[in-house]
Amino acid sequence: MLSSPTSNVLDLPEIDTLYTGRPVVIDFMTEQELTETYNMIQEAAKHGEGYGIDEFNSEKEFREEIRGSDCFVIKCAESGTILAGVIVAVSKFYRGHGSIADPFVIVKRTERKQGLGEFAMRTSIDFAKRLGYMGMYVDTFSNNTAIIKIIEKIGGFVQVGCLPVGGKLQNGNTVGSVIFYTNLSDVNNNVVNET
Ligand SMILES: CC(C)(COP(=O)(O)OP(=O)(O)OC[C@H]1O[C@@H](n2cnc3c(N)ncnc32)[C@H](O)[C@@H]1OP(=O)(O)O)[C@@H](O)C(=O)NCCC(=O)NCCS
Repeated sequence: MLSSPTSNVLDLPEIDTLYTGRPVVIDFMTEQELTETYNMIQEAAKHGEGYGIDEFNSEKEFREEIRGSDCFVIKCAESGTILAGVIVAVSKFYRGHGSIADPFVIVKRTERKQGLGEFAMRTSIDFAKRLGYMGMYVDTFSNNTAIIKIIEKIGGFVQVGCLPVGGKLQNGNTVGSVIFYTNLSDVNNNVVNET
């Protein structure tokens, strides 16, 4: 199992139910499931969905990028097959030590539009909180209607910025990014804009 030093605060596997009534299992990710997650991310990138075409040039590079992150899978309770990957990484937008989370969420293409994306995003927020993160930045491509819809539906996020060039799509065009932030701690961390 892939886990960080903080993962022991989570007692997994957990069993839950999607709004469709489908039972799912949330567990720590295995090495094999990390490879499957990488392949799902690469496939999404090829379809211009959520990840840049040149974001990860190899699985090795991807693994280096998420080293030290907490990696989880959402699996079908009946078959045990992976439905979605959830990685709680440390955000690069905070210039300190591991206080702000950056979630990677990916749903298997054949399993989309059944509420798994929202479930996976809610899981990343819940787990980031339980892992002690103070807040979360979500950096999403501006054309990613589904994840933006999910963030707005979950609530509590504030759009704090946008980047004119966020990544490259499969057709060679660049796409902008939208950055959202949510506070995860019980302490009121006011976001102050000072110039
Ligand atoms: C984004 C993603 C996680 C959504 O997964 P999903 O399982 O389809 O999401 P849900 O079923 O929970 O759908 C959430 C909402 O988005 C809508 N939605 C889903 N896919 C959509 C699409 N392609 N275009 C527009 N809306 C879409 C759903 O209809 C639903 O809206 P509703 O609540 O009004 O019914 C999935 O498309 C994915 O893995 N994409 C590639 C990776 C990615 O973009 N990750 C996020 C990077 S920041």
